[in-house]
Amino acid sequence: MRRRGTAINLTNKAVSRRTMLAGAAAFTFASWLEGCRASVPPHHAPAMDIGGSNSLRYHAAAQQLLFGCAVNAKALREDAAYAHLIRQQCSILVPENCLKWKAVEPEQGRFRFEDADAVVAFAEKNKIKMRGHTLVWHEALPDWVERGLTPTDARAWMTAHIQNVAGRYSGRMHSWDVVNEAIAPRDGRPDGLRDSVWLRTLGPEYIEIALRAARAADPAALLTYNDWGLDDEAAESEERRRAVLTLMRRLRQRNVPIDAVGIQGHLYVPNQRGYGAGLRRFLAALRELDLQVFVTEMDVDDSRALTDEAARDAAVAQEIGAFLDTALPDPAVRAVLTWGLTTHYTWLKERYKNPATRGLPFDDTLQPTGGFAAIRDAFDRRKILAAKPQQVAPLTPIRKWR
Ligand code: XIL
Repeated sequence: MRRRGTAINLTNKAVSRRTMLAGAAAFTFASWLEGCRASVPPHHAPAMDIGGSNSLRYHAAAQQLLFGCAVNAKALREDAAYAHLIRQQCSILVPENCLKWKAVEPEQGRFRFEDADAVVAFAEKNKIKMRGHTLVWHEALPDWVERGLTPTDARAWMTAHIQNVAGRYSGRMHSWDVVNEAIAPRDGRPDGLRDSVWLRTLGPEYIEIALRAARAADPAALLTYNDWGLDDEAAESEERRRAVLTLMRRLRQRNVPIDAVGIQGHLYVPNQRGYGAGLRRFLAALRELDLQVFVTEMDVDDSRALTDEAARDAAVAQEIGAFLDTALPDPAVRAVLTWGLTTHYTWLKERYKNPATRGLPFDDTLQPTGGFAAIRDAFDRRKILAAKPQQVAPLTPIRKWR
C-alpha cells in the first residue's frame, strides 16, 4: 500500500506540490540550457547544499545505515566532479563491472586488477567501505569458462578464481556478493534454483562451494547472496522470496558460511503492486536466520513514464519512498546502495533505451533529483516508522550461527 503522496521535498521543508513542480520545471530549463552549450553535460555546483550534514551518507549514518553506490572505475579516474560527489555522498562503494569474472580474469590465470585496485585505493583513502561484486554469476563469464566447463574444471576454476580475487582484497572488503542471481522459479525446479551453467555442471552444491571458498579467501568479509525481484507484492516476487528463504535455510542446515542477503532493488514505474507484507515477512525471516540485509542495486526504470522531467521525478521519488519505507524499519537492513549515482553514468539509459531517465539520486549534470530527496527523507523516517508496531514483525531472539 502506498503511504506517500507524490510531492517531492527537495528543501527538506514542507512545500506544496505546486511549488515543487514549478521548481523542477525551472530546473529542467536550466539543464536544457546547459545541455545546449556542450555535448558532454557539464557538472556545475548544485543549486542546493548537499554536502556535510545534508549528504546521503550523513542522513544514513544517523539511522545506523551505510549509503553508497556502484562506481564506474573509468569515470572515477577521469571525472573529478563525479569523484567529488562520491566522496561527499557515499560511505560504501561497489565496482559496477570491474570485479566481474570477464573483466578481472579474461584469460585463465591472467588477472586484471588495475581498475579494482584503483577503486579500492580511492575508497580507502577516503575512508569509504567497499563491497565486492561478484564472484559467481551466470553472466559476465569469459568465453574460456563457458566453453570448457566440466564438473572437475568447474570446481577447480571457481575455487581458484575466488582464491585469487577475494584473496587479493582480503581484510579490506566490508562484504562480497559471492553468488549472484541463482534463483529463477520460472526455470521450473522445485527448489527454485536457476538452470545456469554452474547448476548444470556442479548441481546445487556450487553455491556452497563458492561460499566456503570465499570464507577461506577473506574471513572478514560479510558473505552475501544477491538477487533481484525480491521487493514488490507481485506473486512472482513472493515466489522468488520463498526460493531465497529455502536456499538460506538449506545453507544454515548445512553449516555453510553466509552472512547477508542483497536485495538488488531494481524498481520501475509505473508499478501498481506496491510494497508491503511480503517484503516485511521476508526481512523478518532473514533476521531470524541471523542474516543482515543490504539493498545493493537500487535504481528506477522510468522508461515507461513517458512524461516530463517533473513527473518522472515525482514518480521515481514515490516509488523509492514506498520501497524504502517498507524495508528500512527492519533492523536487519544495514546498507542502501544505488546502482550508479548520477544518470550521466548509468546502465538504465542503454538497458531501457531511455536517455531521459531520472532513476538515480543525481542527474546528468550532477544535480540532485527527486530520488535524492526521497532517499534522504526515507532515511530520516526510519526510526519513526520502526517504532510503529504494525510496521515490523516482533523481534525474535537472534541465534548465533558462527
Ligand atoms: C550491469 C552493469 O550495470 C552494466 O554496465 C553491464 O553492462 C551489465 O551489468 N544485476 C547485477 C549487476 O547484479 O551486475 C548488473 O550490472 C545489473 C543487474
